[in-house]
Amino acid sequence: MTANSVEIRGLDLAFGAVEVLKDLTLEIPEGEFLVLLGASGCGKSTLLNCIAGLLDITGGQIFIKDRNVTWAEPSQRGIGMVFQSYALYPQMTVKGNLSFGLKNARIPKAEIEERVARAAGILQIEPLLDRKPAALSGGQRQRVAIGRALVRDVDVFLFDEPLSNLDAKLRADLRVEIKRLHQKLRNTMIYVTHDQIEAMTLADRIAIMRSGAIQQLGSPDEIYNRPRTKYVAEFIGSPAMNFLDGTVTERGFIAADTTIPLDGYGWADGVRQGPAWLGIRPEHVVSGELAAGKSFRQEITVELFEPMGADTLVWTTLAGQPFHFNLDGQHKVATGDRMTIGFDAARGSLFGKDTELRL
Ligand SMILES: Nc1ncnc2c1ncn2[C@@H]1O[C@H](COP(=O)(O)OP(=O)(O)O)[C@@H](O)[C@H]1O
Ligand SMILES: [Mg+2]
Repeated sequence: MTANSVEIRGLDLAFGAVEVLKDLTLEIPEGEFLVLLGASGCGKSTLLNCIAGLLDITGGQIFIKDRNVTWAEPSQRGIGMVFQSYALYPQMTVKGNLSFGLKNARIPKAEIEERVARAAGILQIEPLLDRKPAALSGGQRQRVAIGRALVRDVDVFLFDEPLSNLDAKLRADLRVEIKRLHQKLRNTMIYVTHDQIEAMTLADRIAIMRSGAIQQLGSPDEIYNRPRTKYVAEFIGSPAMNFLDGTVTERGFIAADTTIPLDGYGWADGVRQGPAWLGIRPEHVVSGELAAGKSFRQEITVELFEPMGADTLVWTTLAGQPFHFNLDGQHKVATGDRMTIGFDAARGSLFGKDTELRL
């Protein structure tokens, strides 16, 4: 017995001669909200479909609640799935859509009523029960699609980019609702997205995928603060991390005529000198008087700025390379302004130029 809800061991999946997933192993504890994050085509849906039993895997094993389901039918796996396309039956009412699967499973009528009422209550779609999908907004349709998974009383929920078809405002609203749903139900949820904000806000742990493999598996905090590869560092964070091209020497990180001290840097595997990238998040840069407290300071010229309300993104050049940072929104700024900025490289990330792995 383990406390894992879902366990994937050495999973291989190929479409013909094309290997999409190779020897993938992943353990998901009971009740975890796990997000699979990665660029389009990296294999997220394929992995989810393997767990759901919609694809026959080439090798490896899948366990759900300690039961080997590698060859079990989708309906026998105790999973509920929500897709990007809502896939509701257009001729049925919301209530019909919610109860359809239960009727097929020959669940007694009274229990169907009870489960539908409960799901409708949780998702606040009671007033919509008699409408047909055509009379619902995108957000309402997606709520019904989630409801259809909810009524099935499953162990594990699988979501495949459920919010991608919605506009930005609705996406943010429904994101919060999905988080609330998880807090209430405490089911295991596996959620696929290419949106790093969704991943950061929803996940207990994020698995960042690239070319069918997991590059890093960790809490949002670990992934944000200690990205294991340059790829992960680039993928997470908005605005994106700065990468300065230079060399680690005994005096610090040197880029052109600029030396940036590395005091206090948490080396992954001891000090490593040589060509490297120094990654600095724009939000970790301070300006003016605050810069005085930082181990690296430099006077810069504002080349361009983007007001974003709460803050302003400023573009400049540092060590001959493009560099951007956040300024407090109350701060007035103009092109050509000179200002002192500062940061601690200890808070940044170094990546070897050869391997692009964290140093
Ligand atoms: N049925 C299929 N036949 C052949 N190749 C496929 C099939 N489904 C997906 N692929 C390929 O597998 C890779 C991963 O696809 P997918 O899992 O859908 O990516 P994601 O969901 O991360 O965008 C892609 O290169 C895609 O072209
Ligand atoms: Mg996909």
